[in-house]
Amino acid sequence: MARGPEIDIVTLFPELLEPFIKGAVLGAALRDGRVQVRVTDLRAYATDRHRTVDDTPLGGGDGMVLKCEPTVAAIEAVRQPQGRVLVLSPRGRLLDQDLARELALERQLVLVCGRYAGLDERILEETGAEELSIGDYVLSGGEAAALVVTEVVTRLIPGVLGNPSSPERDSFSEGLLEHPQYTRPRVFRGRRAPAVLLSGNHAEIERYRRRESLRLTFERRPDLLECAELGEEDRRVLQELKHERD
Ligand code: ADE
Repeated sequence: MARGPEIDIVTLFPELLEPFIKGAVLGAALRDGRVQVRVTDLRAYATDRHRTVDDTPLGGGDGMVLKCEPTVAAIEAVRQPQGRVLVLSPRGRLLDQDLARELALERQLVLVCGRYAGLDERILEETGAEELSIGDYVLSGGEAAALVVTEVVTRLIPGVLGNPSSPERDSFSEGLLEHPQYTRPRVFRGRRAPAVLLSGNHAEIERYRRRESLRLTFERRPDLLECAELGEEDRRVLQELKHERD
């Protein structure tokens, strides 16, 4: 049975993460042992009486900064010898499907959720952690980002989705956006599903879907076309779409 990396999430809010991890896709994968996700409470590694995990920024400024001692202790406690430590931060390398595939091959991922104004820079230096961002916007903490990383990585493990071929069909897997999907009824409030999908002609259906993927990518994310794997027929379709637009 294929297994993905073991995932350890270090957070100040374990109770926020647990229901999501136990739910739906991840929950089933956890139960059948394909995925292991552990949540570690950073506060458990605080060393003082008040369980302090953060402090005001040296030099002044708003918010609170995660302290070195508890954060490094938590990372060192959960990290295995070949573990890859990732701190969720808008400063980090941007997550995309290629990076997700790379992370899915690791033995262990330690995802550290920052809070408030960030974390002491020496935590990164001391642990060799990399920073990882899920997009060019700012969240209040890394928890939602850690869940995104967990889901993106675990759904690539064969068998997690039930159908082993479906991750490959998703938007971005081949560098294109996914074609539109339809289900029953055939007509909804006068809107007909495309007739080709009911034709039973699989070659025609594949051609239609590829064309729609190309069309959506051309209209919404032309930047993706530069790196997509395109065949001769794809290039012909794109020429047609350009002519239609001009
Ligand atoms: N923490 C705050 N904003 C973030 C982002 N965009 N990605 C990852 N972690 C974050």
